[in-house]
Amino acid sequence: MAVVVLDFGSQYTQLIARRLRELRTFSVILPGSSPWEHVLAHKPQALVLSGSPASLTDPHAPRPDPRLWSSHLPILGICYGMHLLVQVHGGQVVPGWVREYGRAQLTCAQGPLFSGVSTPFTVWMSHGDTVRQVPPGWKVEASTSDCPVAALSSPDRRMFGVQFHPEVAHTEHGQAILERFLDWAGVDRSWTPENIAHELAREVRDRVGRDRVILAASGGVDSSVLALLLVQAGVEHRAVFVDHGLLRLGEREEVEQALRGLGVQLHVVDASARFLTALKGLVDPEAKRGAIGATFIDVFREQAARLGHFRFLAQGTLYPDVIESAGSQGAAKIKSHHNVGGLPAELGFELVEPLRWLFKDEVRALGCVLGLPNSICLRHPFPGPGLAVRILGEVTPEALDIARHVDHEFIHALREHGLYSEVWQALAVVTPLRSVGVAGDERKYGYVVALRAVTSQDGMTADWARLPHDFLDGVAARITRRVPEVGRVVYDITSKPPATIEWE
Ligand code: XMP
Repeated sequence: MAVVVLDFGSQYTQLIARRLRELRTFSVILPGSSPWEHVLAHKPQALVLSGSPASLTDPHAPRPDPRLWSSHLPILGICYGMHLLVQVHGGQVVPGWVREYGRAQLTCAQGPLFSGVSTPFTVWMSHGDTVRQVPPGWKVEASTSDCPVAALSSPDRRMFGVQFHPEVAHTEHGQAILERFLDWAGVDRSWTPENIAHELAREVRDRVGRDRVILAASGGVDSSVLALLLVQAGVEHRAVFVDHGLLRLGEREEVEQALRGLGVQLHVVDASARFLTALKGLVDPEAKRGAIGATFIDVFREQAARLGHFRFLAQGTLYPDVIESAGSQGAAKIKSHHNVGGLPAELGFELVEPLRWLFKDEVRALGCVLGLPNSICLRHPFPGPGLAVRILGEVTPEALDIARHVDHEFIHALREHGLYSEVWQALAVVTPLRSVGVAGDERKYGYVVALRAVTSQDGMTADWARLPHDFLDGVAARITRRVPEVGRVVYDITSKPPATIEWE
């Protein structure tokens, strides 16, 4: 059972699904023009029609399968979704004489969606078209000074339309409005981490049966949660942890201990020498990623063969990847992220992807329920190629050693000062540059390292974190004192874009 969000191309569609899940309702996103059978396959209890960059005044504007209109399911139409409701029920949508973008004040809001919410309040608008004529019998529920029909409902109240975006944080009471819709539509509200764990483990058990499953454990949240789900499902599995030697200080031991302690059948391979050889002489970031990816696949394949026959490969694909691969295409390749740690189809396994319905924060919550320690569960993202993309130029044992120690000092200090969870990701970059300094009375010629900490929602865009100067001062002193090869510490103050988060 789910709320199906039909996507007509709004930039906020993912946000709608996330907000509904925060309200403990399972929601899925389907393309706006999905055949009605695809919608029904999710046993919808209600529908949300998203916004769109398109205009209904365009004859080619996207439309849902018309069978939707006779379904009698409760519907919430947002922006373009509301225009669809209006047009199909005999109202009129026209290009607005005032385009409303950004904040607006909602006045005279009434009806079940606004109960308990006092007006006026701020809402987020982003539309060109507007409702000129309300469908016969429909009721206007709210307005702004520029938009007389900012919300409306059908006479039998099975359908609501809102011109503004309740899903964005700038809309005050947005979450309350969505919650009123769910309550009013009588939608199931049992999407909790405990239920998710139970449900996903059952699905895995049904799918896998008595066959064997292999997976690649990286020490990150996704693969660790995946491994724990297999434990929970009680299926025969092996989690292969390829130590590529590009991990952080003590990381392998920490992951080994945590996962073994929770019943994961972990098989650890130390392949660090092999990876170093593959990386020898490489300086180009994509060449480094390519070498690591290829070596990873070779090592994994060999280990899988040694461990006997496996029918299934479990992969930690998440919902944003699923949405992305079903949706927008043609984006420029900036970095070949998914080439490292991703395994090719030719390996010949059948795939099990139990996390494919989950957003990252849901995976973290699931990890906590399954007993994963916070140190892993709430950990910053760490790239598949590990420290190799944090060492500019060739990866050498010396550079790795420096990268590991500087990272350790920085992360440790962030934790000590309660700043770790304030930033989305923090990292240290070792440059091939050396600069002159003094240590005691001696001339010192040490490496320049850069610290980077960013705030972000999803890593797609990021801002540099305004860490306190005193904190940065202390960290620089600590690093130059404890990592003698380092002569200078700089802090990266570039946002993404134009920079990326990692330096390579
Ligand atoms: P960028 O550097 O592209 O990073 O702004 C965005 C997020 O992706 C991570 N990242 C990677 N993850 N393989 C990965 O699995 C990679 O090759 C890779 N490169 C960057 C990065 O750490 C950040 O969280």
